[in-house]
This record gives sequence, structure tokens and C-alpha cells, in this order.
Amino acid sequence: MKILVCGKGGSGKSTVTALLAKSVADKGCNVLVVDSDESNFGLHRQLGLELPDDFMNFLGGKKTLIEKMMAAMKSGEKTELFEENWSIADIPEPYVVTKGNISLVSVGKIHDFGEGCACPMGALARHFLKNIETGAKDFVFVDTEAGVEHFGRGVEEGCDLILMVLDPSYESIKLSEKVAELCDRAGKKLYFVFNKVNGDGRTAMLGAVEEERVLSIIPPNEELFQAGLEGREFEVILPEIEFIVSSLISGKAS
Ligand SMILES: Nc1ncnc2c1ncn2[C@@H]1O[C@H](COP(=O)(O)OP(=O)(O)O)[C@@H](O)[C@H]1O
Ligand SMILES: [Mg+2]
Repeated sequence: MKILVCGKGGSGKSTVTALLAKSVADKGCNVLVVDSDESNFGLHRQLGLELPDDFMNFLGGKKTLIEKMMAAMKSGEKTELFEENWSIADIPEPYVVTKGNISLVSVGKIHDFGEGCACPMGALARHFLKNIETGAKDFVFVDTEAGVEHFGRGVEEGCDLILMVLDPSYESIKLSEKVAELCDRAGKKLYFVFNKVNGDGRTAMLGAVEEERVLSIIPPNEELFQAGLEGREFEVILPEIEFIVSSLISGKAS
């Protein structure tokens, strides 16, 4: 199963991705985390892993990728970046870092001033996700950049399910309407995960979104806050995450 995690900046996308990945891996499943947020440098730390080399370098780097895509556009042919389908185990080093049941791939980061936009990375993420074949005990979690740009780039195309993380804010509520519209149009199942939500915020949020889409409500958590601040690995087990994981593994949320 391939699951894309999206939401507004700071809502907790990377946190939820890391917690889900760790929990699913603890249940004996094989997990691939795909970091497709070119400006986030924290996910690998939340997972307790080193940052792998940019996967984009496997294809010759950003410049080469842009040239390949431009050439395909000019010729009117479909770009094929991979010659054959891969399983998680086929991803070559140093573009993957693995510990236990979790592997991490980072599509590409912005490293330099003026190096150009992140569009090729979005295209690569789309191709990469479509190319990865998953078995019954494989889970792929895709951490995305803030907002809905990745929908424009078609990154969700190769995914089976979308999880949108909402923090208690007007922006998250508004964005959820847009995301629901985009998912419906793409024929993708969408669930909401409220994060840092409790008390009155919970009631207000439930009243403001399509309630039947709400899969879990994670309250503010001191350990997550501290670990996030210090760039430490997440060690906490949350019942709300366990609930999502059992829904995913049992197929109730699919
Ligand atoms: N439930 C929570 N309770 C407390 N802090 C949280 C919670 N979820 C996320 N955080 C903190 O919020 C910050 C932003 O989370 P992050 O996952 O990086 O957001 P995003 O990936 O959406 O930009 C991090 O410092 C993280 O530790
Ligand atoms: Mg993030």
C-alpha cells in the first residue's frame, strides 16, 4: 500500500509520517518512507536515520533530469525514467538508508541559492512512486511539501490513499476543502488526521470538516514537541497512531 501524507506547513506531516512508519515497521511490515519535501531536513532525524543521497543524483542530477524531461516534451513522447519496476529492496545505495524494517529515500533537497525550482523533483517523485511495486506486507509512506503543489505535479497518482494532517487552524480547514476536491477528482480515498487538537478545538474542527473522513485525532504531546525541537528520534507510541495503523493493516482504511 502506498500512502501520501499532506497538509499545511507545520501541521505535523513529517511527524505523522515518522510515527506511522515506525509503528507499521514494529508490526513486522516492510516500510519505505519517501521524503518528497525538498525543503525539509528533519524527517530522517525523526525516524532516527541518516539522510540518504538525493535520489535525483541516481538519474544524473537536476540538470540532467530537466534535460531529459525537456527532450521528451519536445519529441511528444512520454518520459520513462525507469527501465523496469522495482521492489523496495531494488533501490540502490547510497540513495536509500535502511535500519530494521524501515528504509528512507529522499527525492532531492534544495542545496544552493538560485538552483532553480523543485518541479523536476515533483516529476521524479511521481515516476518513482509509480515504479515501486509493493507486496502485501509492504507500506510506502510519502511525506510531501506543504500545500497542494504535489497534486499539480501528479505525485499522488501512484498512491492508494491520501492522509491529510490538519492542525487547529483556519488555513488547515480551508485547505482540506481543496484537498477533498482534488482527491475526489483524482479518484483517491482521503482521510483526515487532526494533529495538536484537543478540547474546544476538537469540537470546532469536527464541525468544520467532513466528519466521516476523520480517521484519528492526535492531541498536543509534550514528548513530540521536545523531540521536534531538539531534532531527536521519535520514540513515543500514541494510541491514535496505533488506531490508524490497525485500520491500514486490516484494510478498514483503504
Ligand atoms: N501532536 C503534537 N504535539 C506536539 N508537537 C507536535 C505534534 N505534532 C507535531 N509537533 C511538532 O510540530 C512541529 C512541526 O511538525 P512537522 O511534522 O515538522 O510539520 P510539517 O511536516 O507538517 O511541516 C515539529 O517540531 C513537531 O515536533
Ligand atoms: Mg515536514
